Amino acid sequence: MFDALPPAPVDAIFGLMDAYRADPRADRINLTVGVYKDENGQTPVLDAVRRAQARLQAEESSKSYAPIPGDPRYGRACRALLFGSEHALVDDGRATTAHCAGGTGGLRIAGDYLRIMHPGSRLWLSSPTWANHRGVFGEAGHELSSYAWVDQAGTGLDYDALMSDLQGLRADDVVLLHGCCHNPTGIDPTPEQWRGIGQLLRERGAMPLVDFAYQGFGDGLDADAAGLRGLVEESDELLICSSFSKNFGLYNERVGALTAVTRSPEAARTVAGHIKVRIRRTWSNPPARGAAIVRTILEDDELRTLWQGEINAMRQRINGMRGDFVAGLRAEGVQGYDFIEKQRGMFSVTGLNPVQVQRLREVHSVYALGTGRVNFAGMTPANLPRLCHAVAEVLA
Ligand code: LMR
Repeated sequence: MFDALPPAPVDAIFGLMDAYRADPRADRINLTVGVYKDENGQTPVLDAVRRAQARLQAEESSKSYAPIPGDPRYGRACRALLFGSEHALVDDGRATTAHCAGGTGGLRIAGDYLRIMHPGSRLWLSSPTWANHRGVFGEAGHELSSYAWVDQAGTGLDYDALMSDLQGLRADDVVLLHGCCHNPTGIDPTPEQWRGIGQLLRERGAMPLVDFAYQGFGDGLDADAAGLRGLVEESDELLICSSFSKNFGLYNERVGALTAVTRSPEAARTVAGHIKVRIRRTWSNPPARGAAIVRTILEDDELRTLWQGEINAMRQRINGMRGDFVAGLRAEGVQGYDFIEKQRGMFSVTGLNPVQVQRLREVHSVYALGTGRVNFAGMTPANLPRLCHAVAEVLA
């Protein structure tokens, strides 16, 4: 059965990470996978996480199964982070949250839920979008449509084209939106544009599905949730996939959540039941530790304050590297990259073409995605001069 298999496709993101690891050149630079690195190139365990872990370790009395949708206290903490601690949706029963295995787990459970319970719905993705969205939703059996995101210059949102494409929505269609720090472009709508998108979806009877993986990495925890909170004012039904890989640095704990906002507590209980069935048939019960760490930090004032300081530092470093990269290119005589400072999050699409990206990798041992996406968290004061010189060389 195995001998005649064709080779599997290499993952567009992690495949490059593997190639980077195998590269013997000591000065190689990794701008691929969306992982935060400090100015020494290390991905740290946050202090707030270390302290929460120590507390949990001392208190742990059992490793018995977690409930299928996870700890309800974790679900509540997720909703408070999404909507704001005073928001009615935190406790009024209209929203329900299930712990999922990372952001990807939440997306896949949402995909399975939608295909099985709402089989006529089409799923709309921005063009471009995260490299794995098509795989996750395609494999869940969805008919996929796409809507415009980037303008002609490749540097800002083409709001008119986006709204024009979404005129094609049918009732019950689902539109995936990046909650903040759009991956890969770093281009986010303004609060007014978020409202406009929400209004159009409501008029069409379509539902938003918000992929929220970078809260805190754009402009701050609340500022980054403003788009989502505006959408919630317009849409009374939506799905949200949270990831805590980046903002808690819990990449390998696989901790995320799927939250459904419904019109009534009764509807929320029914949706929760169906999501629970999907989870039971996928991983049965969630891995508990990451969620316990997140809950412990969010529920404790001191740990939460510590964590917020750590997120602020990560964000400031990333935004600082955006500015330094633009300045470094300018010093090399390369103009036209100022847009990078206006974009947000770990990523921007540089406009480097596949041949230039390949030359960066082969000649300069600089690893970027084939689409020209770079991760600013992979830049450091030490590697920036060499990086900017290499980019200037391939552009020339
Ligand atoms: C990325 O886009 O690099 C991250 O979201 C990591 C991943 O899983 O692809």
